[in-house]
Amino acid sequence: MCETDEENPKEVLCSCSGTTRGLIIELVKQGKDLEGISRYSGALSGCGGCEWEISELVNRLQAENSTPKA
Ligand code: FES
Repeated sequence: MCETDEENPKEVLCSCSGTTRGLIIELVKQGKDLEGISRYSGALSGCGGCEWEISELVNRLQAENSTPKA
């Protein structure tokens, strides 16, 4: 995974809870699913406006994690 500006770990993806991309990446690494991430960070529990972006990120990270690295 490369860290372009788009992948900035300090970018806040959920402004209701202040959850950053980096925190979500960390929680996925710990094996948390979307619900666990929401419970832990408060993301997705406010306006719901971040739902699409966060679920997409989580799905992508989970797919990357389950793909064996060469
Ligand atoms: S921006 Fe995430 S719940 Fe509002």
